[in-house]
Amino acid sequence: MREKVYNKFVELFSGEATMFAAPGRINLIGEHTDYNGGFVFPGAIDKEMVAAIRLNGTDKVRVYALDMNQESIFGLEEEDKPAETWAHYIFGVCREIIKRGGKIGGFDATFAGNVPLGAGMSSSAALESLFATALNDLFNLGIDKFELARIGQATEHNYCGVKCGIMDQFASIFGKEGCLMRLDCRSMEFEYFPFSPKGYKLLLLDSKVKHALVGSPYNDRRESCERVAAKLGREFLRGASMQSLEDIKGEISEEDYKRAYYVIGEEARVLSVCDALQKGDYEQVGRDMYATHWGLSKDYEVSCEELDFLVNVAQEAGVTGSRLMGGGFGGCTINLVKEELYDHFIGTALSRFKDQFGHEPKVYDVVISPGARRL
Ligand code: GLA
Repeated sequence: MREKVYNKFVELFSGEATMFAAPGRINLIGEHTDYNGGFVFPGAIDKEMVAAIRLNGTDKVRVYALDMNQESIFGLEEEDKPAETWAHYIFGVCREIIKRGGKIGGFDATFAGNVPLGAGMSSSAALESLFATALNDLFNLGIDKFELARIGQATEHNYCGVKCGIMDQFASIFGKEGCLMRLDCRSMEFEYFPFSPKGYKLLLLDSKVKHALVGSPYNDRRESCERVAAKLGREFLRGASMQSLEDIKGEISEEDYKRAYYVIGEEARVLSVCDALQKGDYEQVGRDMYATHWGLSKDYEVSCEELDFLVNVAQEAGVTGSRLMGGGFGGCTINLVKEELYDHFIGTALSRFKDQFGHEPKVYDVVISPGARRL
């Protein structure tokens, strides 16, 4: 893929370019907690977006997306927003850098990716992190890594319509080979956790139900949480107790209650998983993953029939832990599977899913990999 991207650059623009890469992410536990000021537990993966890029000395950006066979040309002023939806991510990154006082000019680029789109592995954050990292480097902007992540997040908010948290961009920028990261989204303190559970493997099963967070009820979930937090007189749901939620149960809608119930429970599960990881107790990690899934399904209501089915099949097959991963509304499940069960589980999941829905889910092995960088 890297070579294809480079060759396309030479074909379109001739001469030389600098290569950059930025990965997608998994998340072990801590879902829909980031915008609630809570904890997340992501890691970068070996699926990435790659760009060849060179400054062109003009005020125009010319970008070619190999996966779309499409070019987009835009200027750097607010009114220059390109027509191509995929280019909004790149335009947004440029605008957010400019808003922060970053002096950038035009550039030529080609890019492609193997982060599956709409599968919950954060292809859009990978794209934002890719261009934020590349422009920071090529224009010598000196922006720190947290700010690069925030530039990606602000791009989602202001140019793509998703009021996301910071997890995906953080993971894509800060990823480290072999390590998951526990991030406290309130203080932004984080810690690397080497993750190579002996005797277990991580497996992603993509239901191929496309999740699109743009225009999805993702923003509604966030609003529910904010309403409850405000009612509790807090900035975030993070830190609120179940008792305090019970105390205001009569004053909020049943729906908002369920959303907050899930989020407060999830905070405890992330901490439980950290503790279990330190003790090497993967069975506990798995139990918490299942609890997260059913909370996301029944209380947060961001699952779908296909994802629930995959988690049920995992549970019946004796898989240690399984849950939907990412924003939900489709995408994939993340599974913590004992090595001896691995092949058998994949076989069972594929055939049972196909019998039920007429197509097989896609299987992804995960390797925990480094974050965004110049190649
Ligand atoms: C999406 C968002 C993240 C996070 C997850 C759910 O991936 O981009 O900020 O909220 O959903 O955990």
